[in-house]
Amino acid sequence: MIPTARPLRVLPGVRLLCAILLFGLSAAHGAPVTPPAAAIASAHPAATQAGEQILAAGGNAFDAAIAVAATLAVVEPYSSGLGGGGFWLLHLSGEDRSVFVDGRERAPLAASPDMYLNNSGELVPELALNGPLAAGIPGVPAALDHLAAHYARLPLSQSLAPAIRLARDGFTIDAHYRRLADWRLEVLRASPAADEQFLLAGEVPPEGHLLRQPELAGTLERIAARGRDGFYTGELAEQLVAGVREAGGIWTMEDLRDYRIIERAPIVFDYGDWTITSAPPPSAGGVGLAQMLGMLADLNINAQDRVTRVHLSVEAMRRAYRDRAAFLGDPDQVEMPLARLMHPFYLVGLARDIDPNWATPSQPPALQEAAGEPADEGRDTTHFSILDKEGNRVAATLSINYPFGAGFVPPGTGVLLNDEMDDFAAQPGVANAYGLVGGEANAIAPGKRMLSSMSPTFVESDQGVAILGTPGGSRIITMVLNAVLALTEGGTPADWVAAPRFHHQYLPDVIQHEPAAFDAEEAAALQAMGHRLEPVDPGMFGNMQVIYWDRSKQRVQAASDPRGQGEAKVLTGAP
Ligand code: GLY
Repeated sequence: MIPTARPLRVLPGVRLLCAILLFGLSAAHGAPVTPPAAAIASAHPAATQAGEQILAAGGNAFDAAIAVAATLAVVEPYSSGLGGGGFWLLHLSGEDRSVFVDGRERAPLAASPDMYLNNSGELVPELALNGPLAAGIPGVPAALDHLAAHYARLPLSQSLAPAIRLARDGFTIDAHYRRLADWRLEVLRASPAADEQFLLAGEVPPEGHLLRQPELAGTLERIAARGRDGFYTGELAEQLVAGVREAGGIWTMEDLRDYRIIERAPIVFDYGDWTITSAPPPSAGGVGLAQMLGMLADLNINAQDRVTRVHLSVEAMRRAYRDRAAFLGDPDQVEMPLARLMHPFYLVGLARDIDPNWATPSQPPALQEAAGEPADEGRDTTHFSILDKEGNRVAATLSINYPFGAGFVPPGTGVLLNDEMDDFAAQPGVANAYGLVGGEANAIAPGKRMLSSMSPTFVESDQGVAILGTPGGSRIITMVLNAVLALTEGGTPADWVAAPRFHHQYLPDVIQHEPAAFDAEEAAALQAMGHRLEPVDPGMFGNMQVIYWDRSKQRVQAASDPRGQGEAKVLTGAP
């Protein structure tokens, strides 16, 4: 029996009222309670097709999620995979219940707070990014098994079949693969099994090359046959542990055997007429969104001119990311004042502290120097959204952290390991690869889950429901914020995924933005308010996947971010 936690709420009572009204409207007006079409939006056409195939075979959204996630592990090895982790936000239409499946990696039991420090006590960042010492214990295989056991309809042998076929028969290399493989070339070359799996004679394969991964196919087959035991125990587990330890890592068989999926209550809060359901800790996403939207509601953001809106949004981001650094971590190991952080009085206080005309400096200069620069990468990690015709929904964001994760494959397994350990504050007060500074709450400890930004989210009113999320490291939460603000003002999923983006994360004290986000006049006005601007290549700013079921018009729309190569499909013919 899975324990079902109650949603963490900002405004108790208000959501219940919304639910009663919504139910009342639907029932009273005879509005359909199931969508007219299914839909899938993912970062790769092969993954969208795999999900479509599973829906056509009688699977539900959760079966399709298994197929999409496993296929992405094959065709987007730079983003997510069996060696990584992720979060699945599910909505079970039959029970009108949302649940958050936490398949985040956790630190090995032999991990210690100083494991990435040299003898002088200084952080050696490469140790937390490259090679097996950087890898947390993977959660994706356990999550696939968990979804199959508790929510899906089809056996894993069926839902994993498209991924197994693609791993065995191969997929063609595109320009995006080449760019990311080139960026991680030296790290991939350092692992003989990664070199063999992802490179061609030690070089990045040419575009159009058919990349076959027979060992990954074998591992997927083990999971299809034995579920989580096929990965976390037995011969494969022994190969994983031996490969990691021979190359300097610290995994043990106990680490794998003891890995557990945790179901958590999502963060649920209201913003105007909308109810937002998002990721609880160990993601910073839901808390951050509740804080930012709470402040912006108080500041009546939608009524402001464009420059004021950007200024106020940035100031809300700054304050939310400050609290993230100070308070958030693994809920099973850290006490967090969540109720206070999301309390309306606290958020109004934060909002009223914002100077309408002037940027609030983030910190004394010494800490600014510690902050480093936000990473240029924005499309490592992946997101997909699914709606089936029964109204079941999945928003899933999965990661191996940096492109190609740790760049390390334990020989014989085909499993590319994550470098999610870098999401810990490896040295509290010193920036990680995303320029994020963390505190003791996110310090490394044995068995602890590292704080994440991944924010799979539902945005719902009596008008409709959006299923969304994006990759993008520390920028994930502000990208979701931008999308929520856009969708609550109207438009279509295509507008929301394409809207130019901007981001602030407290430290470093800079607004990162796509060039198209501000015209010259707006940029000058923001600079005059004391903001520092840093343009970022749009190709680096996320890869959002959105589905919107417009209940009032009984219409389903889907969109895949134009910055990526994904595919969004509305499946009117799906069963
Ligand atoms: N590794 C990216 C995140 O979890 O935020």
